[in-house]
Amino acid sequence: MRTTILDFLKKKREGKKIAVLTAYDFPFAQIVDEAGMDAILVGDSLAMVVQGIENTLPVTMDEMVYHTKMVSRAAKNSMVIADMPYLSYQISIEEAVRNAGRFVKEAGAQAVKIEGGREVEGIVKAMTCAEIPVMAHIGLTPQSLHKMGGYKVQGKTEDAAQRLIEDAKILEDAGAFSLILEAIPAEVAQRITSGLSIPTIGIGAGPHCDGQVLVLHDLLGLFDRFVPKFVKKYANLKEETSKAVRQYRDEVEKGTFPGKEHSF
Ligand code: KIV
Repeated sequence: MRTTILDFLKKKREGKKIAVLTAYDFPFAQIVDEAGMDAILVGDSLAMVVQGIENTLPVTMDEMVYHTKMVSRAAKNSMVIADMPYLSYQISIEEAVRNAGRFVKEAGAQAVKIEGGREVEGIVKAMTCAEIPVMAHIGLTPQSLHKMGGYKVQGKTEDAAQRLIEDAKILEDAGAFSLILEAIPAEVAQRITSGLSIPTIGIGAGPHCDGQVLVLHDLLGLFDRFVPKFVKKYANLKEETSKAVRQYRDEVEKGTFPGKEHSF
């Protein structure tokens, strides 16, 4: 049975941790789904880890819909959450709801994610009114890269922490079903988590969040342009893949592939 937003809330009530991971295509989404992940986030991080772009800003709605379709085809049990790309929800509430609706109607997602605090309150309300579950995202919000002056840990002063705590409550009251906390001190994440009835999902926000999310390509060691402190590499697939493709090239050059067993 597919995980729903009710399962997210139940896990929070029961003190059970929620596991979320990104995926961007069919084969990886199938592996992530079969591993029993609560949700697969089709993150706009795909701009960096799949498309090879410097930051997440250029990825388009059509590209996000395309990748979400592939993930939805593979995900039988995990909830599919589509990340709304930069400028797909900031221009007007009408456009935001129309774009969020595309992820549900065209791409088969069960929820969407948007970045921002109190400034997106009206958008969360409108999407929720349109029956679209919303995961909110505060702290280091990569779409605010230029406003933040770089990818920096957020909420480090008491004033900044207080603002995050207020934003979290505003987003919960607006109808968000969960909240990503990215790159904030563990103690601030703990204060936010204990003050909410919706689950917090941390990435670089310490162990006290109700769940965790990572970028698949970071976890697998497929993206090494930079590795944030909060990433744990569970494999080194870049090295493994490189070894395999070099061996193939060598064998073709030497004429040892294909062998008899690969020939008709
Ligand atoms: O785009 C993404 O993958 C994300 C996660 C890192 C939370 O926003």
